[in-house]
Amino acid sequence: MKKLLIKNIKGLLQVGESIPSVVKGQQMKELPMIENAFLALEDKQVVAYGAMEDWGGIEDWRDLEIIDATGKYVLPAFCDSHTHTVFAKSREEEFVDRINGLSYEEIALKGGGILNSARKLAALSENELYEDALKRVQQLIAYGTGALEIKSGYGLSVEAELKMLRVIKRLKETAGISIKATFLGAHAFPTEFKENHTAYIDLIIQEMLPKIAAENLADYIDVFCERNYFSVEEMERILLAGAKFGLTPKVHVNQFSVLGGIQKAIELGALSVDHLEEISDEDIQALKNSSCIATLLPSCSHFISIPFGNARALMNADIPVALASDFNPGTTPTGNLSVVWSLACIKLKMTPEEALNALTVNGAYAMGLSETHGKIALGRQSPILLTKEIPSIAYIPYAFGDQLIEQIIL
Ligand code: NIG
Ligand code: FE
Repeated sequence: MKKLLIKNIKGLLQVGESIPSVVKGQQMKELPMIENAFLALEDKQVVAYGAMEDWGGIEDWRDLEIIDATGKYVLPAFCDSHTHTVFAKSREEEFVDRINGLSYEEIALKGGGILNSARKLAALSENELYEDALKRVQQLIAYGTGALEIKSGYGLSVEAELKMLRVIKRLKETAGISIKATFLGAHAFPTEFKENHTAYIDLIIQEMLPKIAAENLADYIDVFCERNYFSVEEMERILLAGAKFGLTPKVHVNQFSVLGGIQKAIELGALSVDHLEEISDEDIQALKNSSCIATLLPSCSHFISIPFGNARALMNADIPVALASDFNPGTTPTGNLSVVWSLACIKLKMTPEEALNALTVNGAYAMGLSETHGKIALGRQSPILLTKEIPSIAYIPYAFGDQLIEQIIL
């Protein structure tokens, strides 16, 4: 039996047997920690942890690896519940267009944005897409991500959506971390359907969904509910069709406007509503009375210069908040969650502890991985992080841009 002992840990974080599967807003400031701790794993499974003074010593030295974590912290790996990690090419030309004064929405209306990515993706083979995406996932793991959601949505045709989802399926088998796949055929209307939304939605419902279900390619379904994209009614039709194939909604809503998409998504059983840069009192009320989590994406706000979500209003209403990267070539070209942690503290005014709850337990909840990810507890096998030597855990978001995760233990 392969054993690992991590000893002299400066702080063992998000550890314990009574951490809930989702941490509600008011509780998010609490972050369980054992100072000067040890953590013991056998065959990757947590078998013991506690304060160093309670550690009983080693009886069996066979197959034992010891890590001395003096000055370092140990925490559960980050759970990134919203990404678009499979894509064809970067889009720095749009970045320059924005510097020169165009907005994200203006660029999209000119045929840039998601449609730009869809054109680029159509030209790549499944293998090329897979090879590029695998390298990206490996980079995310090195940054400390131990569970990942990936969306389709740069295909926008039957063939290309299936291609993307097959790439995600291969990543699930090979990447070495848990990955969830979300079908986002309703990410934008392809140019040829600009004047005929019903025909594109028919294509999603009648052709894409049955094929995706037949190959078991998706865990969740997403719709970009937004002005110039999918209306609340269009989202409803698509989510109802997804439900017939057992797909739970996780949706893009309220990025640029308040349309009532949050209420509708909750009514249709959404696990998570994501973005929420714009939010109304009615939205907050609806979230408060639901089991749906609010997922904020501050690196998207930062990168395309749009408002930041109101994390404090959500947490004050006791709504659980998750943080994710939204890694994609248009609005968030990095999936580094230490950056998201910093932005959450600096721009969303979340405390380091609140943000870490949002990046671990609540991120796991937002992709249906509460049973296995997001906390350190007996019997669990999920990935954990070892930091570099740092003065305190708040130092990680404080020292923005530094890479302070030394190692991920998968
Ligand atoms: O979450 N807003 C919709 N989808 C992505 C952006 C997609 C793109 O620009 O490529 C997002 O920000
Ligand atoms: Fe997104």
